[in-house]
Amino acid sequence: MSEGQITNYELQIANCELRKTNDKLQMTNDKMGWVGDALAFAITRTRKNVARVTDFPEVAKDGKWEYARNKPGGWVGGHWTGLLWLAFAQTGDPFFERAARDWTAKLASRQNDTSTHDLGFLFELSHVLGAHITGDASLKLPAVNAARALIQRYNEKGRFIRAWGALDTDTNRGRAIIDTLMNLDLLYWATRETGDQSFAQIATAHARAALKNQVRGDWSTSHTMDFDPDTGLFLQQGTHQGLSASSCWARGQAWAVYGFAETYRNTGDAIFLDAARHCAEYALRRAPSDHVPFWDYDSPLTQSADDVRDSSAAAILASGLLILAAQDRANAARWRDQATTMLQSLWENYSSRGTNGPSILIHATRSKPHGAMDSGLIYGDFYFVEALGRLEIRDWRL
Ligand code: GLY
Repeated sequence: MSEGQITNYELQIANCELRKTNDKLQMTNDKMGWVGDALAFAITRTRKNVARVTDFPEVAKDGKWEYARNKPGGWVGGHWTGLLWLAFAQTGDPFFERAARDWTAKLASRQNDTSTHDLGFLFELSHVLGAHITGDASLKLPAVNAARALIQRYNEKGRFIRAWGALDTDTNRGRAIIDTLMNLDLLYWATRETGDQSFAQIATAHARAALKNQVRGDWSTSHTMDFDPDTGLFLQQGTHQGLSASSCWARGQAWAVYGFAETYRNTGDAIFLDAARHCAEYALRRAPSDHVPFWDYDSPLTQSADDVRDSSAAAILASGLLILAAQDRANAARWRDQATTMLQSLWENYSSRGTNGPSILIHATRSKPHGAMDSGLIYGDFYFVEALGRLEIRDWRL
């Protein structure tokens, strides 16, 4: 980071501080205390992880990281690089900049990967975030290429982005998932970078399809939506990681809140603000007393051994609520208070402090139907740290 760039970052923080005072959203000293403790813990844990990981970390189980399967980074490589960039932004320590640059470079080979919708997760939290924090424009081209690869997955008939499967395969050709809302921000960014409107048009078309077909009358969401890939006819809602086609998978609902809030920020279209607000209300209404959801809002809440939480869903939701707070000025204090309560519960009841880790948060569920529960998850850790930064209003995207 050059001297000039440090100044830019400091200016950004100073502007945010000003905004915070203007909006009368200042945190109490008490809250600042635990936020500072949580951030310090997260940064120390991340520093240790830089020394111990040999590949992209994904799941923390039995005291060690399991690495992302397939390809450099799987779908989670960006969450690891994102943590490193946020640690650098918080500390200014060149140790984290070096690590962030090294791991970001390892993801560059994915820039032309048309076989997944996850390119937003991968490139926004590596190359775009790195370019933003350092001002290094050379990090942008791989992200623009990734956006070009992502729009090749657009089905014009159904006006959705296909989630899974290589383009030359038939399986899942008509399937889209709620998670894809998180990959749209890369497309809006690519339009701003290149002037090519097609990225943003595809992003908005997909968000509209999700709103129409995945969001139910009570503002819960389905994990998947299936189309006839040839005619574009919508067929049905379904699930892959939730309880059932008609249930509400907790992480999916968090993706919806975050994704619709971002889509509103990018489009200014009030239908997306309305969707983010109502999807958020649904999640808050159905949260248990400690504010961290069970893996699916419709799981039998019997406290049985099978009934597990998903701390990653709470972290994503909290960060999404803070985007909403920045966009929905009339209700900002409410969204911010809810996010704060959730993050404090994560810190007090779901952090790995006092253990050797290796994740920051524990008690997350990758996929209960696949037997993957009660672990740390790198994306839970990323969104927890991102949200803590947003609480301090030291955020790169608000
Ligand atoms: N995007 C995959 C998941 O949320 O598990």
